[in-house]
Amino acid sequence: MHEDVERVLIDEGVIEKRLDILAERVMREFRGRELMVVVILKGALVFTADLLRRLPIPLEIECLNVASYHGGTESSGQVDFLDAKLPPVEGRFVLVVDDILDTGRTLAAVEKMLWEQGAQKVKSCVLLSKDKERAAEVEADFVGFGIGDEFVVGYGLDFQGLYRNLPYIGVLKEEVIGELS
Ligand code: XMP
Repeated sequence: MHEDVERVLIDEGVIEKRLDILAERVMREFRGRELMVVVILKGALVFTADLLRRLPIPLEIECLNVASYHGGTESSGQVDFLDAKLPPVEGRFVLVVDDILDTGRTLAAVEKMLWEQGAQKVKSCVLLSKDKERAAEVEADFVGFGIGDEFVVGYGLDFQGLYRNLPYIGVLKEEVIGELS
C-alpha cells in the first residue's frame, strides 16, 4: 500500500470483478447500436480504459475535459467545460463515463448538453457513487460501487493531480491532505 494511503476501500481484484458485471449490463443496453462513449477527463481515464476493453461492440471514444474540484477535496460548485468539442451527437447513442458521482453537477451538466445537442439516447456509467444528497437531480444508470461521503483517490481519481495511478481506491491520511493543500 502507498505510504500516503490510510486505508484501501476497494481493492484491485474487487474492481476487476465488478467491471465484468458492468460491461455485461452496458452491452445489454446498447447491443446492436454504434455507441459513442464520452469520457470525462481526467478522472475517468483509467476506469474507461478497463471497461471498454470488456465491450466487444462497435464504439467511438470522445473526451470531455470538465473540472469542478479545482485541486481540493470539496466540489467548487461550478462545472467548467475546459474543452467541449465533440463530433455531432444528433441521433447518437451515448454512454457518459465518469469516475465518481458526488454532487451530481458534472453529470447533470454533461447529460443536459448531450440531450440539447440531439442525442437519441444518453446513459451514464460511474465507477463510484457517493451516498449523499445531490445538488443536481441526477443518478447514474450503471454504478460500480456505492461509497460513503468521503474523499477517495486512486484508479484515476486524484488529489492535487497525484495518486491516479494507484490500482485501488483508497483514503488518504489526514496529514497528507493537510500537507498538500
Ligand atoms: P460532482 O460533484 O460534479 O463531482 O458529481 C464529480 C467530479 O468531482 C470529482 N470528485 C472527486 N475526485 N475524489 C476525487 O479524486 C473524490 O472523492 C471526488 N469526489 C468528486 C471528480 O473529478 C468527479 O468527476
